[in-house]
Amino acid sequence: MKMGEKGKTVRLGIIGLGGRGRGQTETLIQMPDVEVVAVCDVYEDRVKLGQELIMKHRGIMPAGETDFRKVIARDDVDAVCVFTSWETHVDICVQAMYAGKRAAMEVGGATSVDECWKLVRAKEETGIECMMLENCCYGKEEMTILNMVNQGVFGTLVHCQGGYQHDLRDEIGNGDINRHYRQRHFLNRNAELYPTHELGPIAQYLKINRGNRMVSLCAMSSKAAGLHEWLTENRADTPLANAQVNQGDIVTTLIKCANGETIVLTHDCTLPRPYSRGGRVQGTKGIWMEDNRSIYIEGRTQADPTHWTHVWEKDTAYMEEYKHPLWKAYEEFGLRGGHGGMDYLVLRGFIESVQKNECPPIDTYDTASWMVITALSEQSAAMGGMPVPIPDFTEGRWLQKRTEFATGEYALN
Ligand SMILES: NC(=O)c1ccc[n+]([C@@H]2O[C@H](COP(=O)([O-])OP(=O)(O)OC[C@H]3O[C@@H](n4cnc5c(N)ncnc54)[C@H](O)[C@@H]3O)[C@@H](O)[C@H]2O)c1
Repeated sequence: MKMGEKGKTVRLGIIGLGGRGRGQTETLIQMPDVEVVAVCDVYEDRVKLGQELIMKHRGIMPAGETDFRKVIARDDVDAVCVFTSWETHVDICVQAMYAGKRAAMEVGGATSVDECWKLVRAKEETGIECMMLENCCYGKEEMTILNMVNQGVFGTLVHCQGGYQHDLRDEIGNGDINRHYRQRHFLNRNAELYPTHELGPIAQYLKINRGNRMVSLCAMSSKAAGLHEWLTENRADTPLANAQVNQGDIVTTLIKCANGETIVLTHDCTLPRPYSRGGRVQGTKGIWMEDNRSIYIEGRTQADPTHWTHVWEKDTAYMEEYKHPLWKAYEEFGLRGGHGGMDYLVLRGFIESVQKNECPPIDTYDTASWMVITALSEQSAAMGGMPVPIPDFTEGRWLQKRTEFATGEYALN
């Protein structure tokens, strides 16, 4: 289907109407083949905001619910998009799948390994897929790097790195005021809480679940100083000033893959710093580093005549030369939605998979294998960095040529 072309109408139920839910709903209702028939949040004021949003853009008042089970029970809902708190994603999606609805969930980590198996079992028992809406897999840079990896520019890949490095002290520290879920995770857990923004793209580079898989990890956590200090300075008149913060400021997770590659993930949300996903891709022919937007490709990067050592060059020319075909089409069509346009692409990938009734570009196995890193890093960090095995949710099928993959322009494989 050409970008912007109208397909079969998809009738959606939207569950979770916080900042992200409302933002993504606004992008979805700009698609002429999407109808939002029901919106849901546990808070009535947010249900009303969601209804008003649809009314404003479409002139139709969708049903409003505070119980998500009423949304998934509706006959006029084809699929649900779940934009709720991390710990509620799987339960809502699983119930939707058993009710016969295609499901998509926002990003986040799992609270237990068992939860990930429940998601996989729901897929296997119903034949219905659940897609993680990992927008960073559709980022312009990430897709360009994927194209370069696929064309062999880096040679054989050996190592990848990435991080969620985002100063969120304000959001977390004021979570009780803003009814935001993140605060309870940071106070009570200690883990790689948000692995998928970097792991999603890395999984595409390393063909995870498609001939490769992640086999084990170890995680270490630093002291927890940043959020505590912020709370004592900014929430001095509340019990939070003396609250115990469990989440270490920097959590580093090292993953080993079946084909021998290593992956390093960094979770860094409670210290002052500029935002970065800290990407690094390294193979037998060269290296790319996101932070300095720098690259070195053997045989192509010009040597510095005054030095005999290897030197960096800026990645600008590569970004143009290897721009992914989806991004070329997207720039012609016109960027829309949040986060530099990648939000629209991931939503469109989901909608078109529902229209074609085929496997989404990020499938249930991917979703489970990426989310489980949170639960496993929590176990490893609690044991001082002990290695823990990563389950094979495909139960051996990663070894064979699987046939159910997404097709079309949004496919990532
Ligand atoms: N991909 C991205 O770039 C990106 C950006 C921001 C947030 N997110 C993700 O989006 C999700 C939501 O984030 P947010 O910042 O909007 O959080 P939020 O807390 O503002 O909103 C979540 C909403 O879900 C509702 N909710 C929770 N449990 C529910 C249930 N059982 N039934 C119905 N509603 C329920 C809450 O009441 C709340 O309004 C998270 O998973 C977050 O990680 C992703």
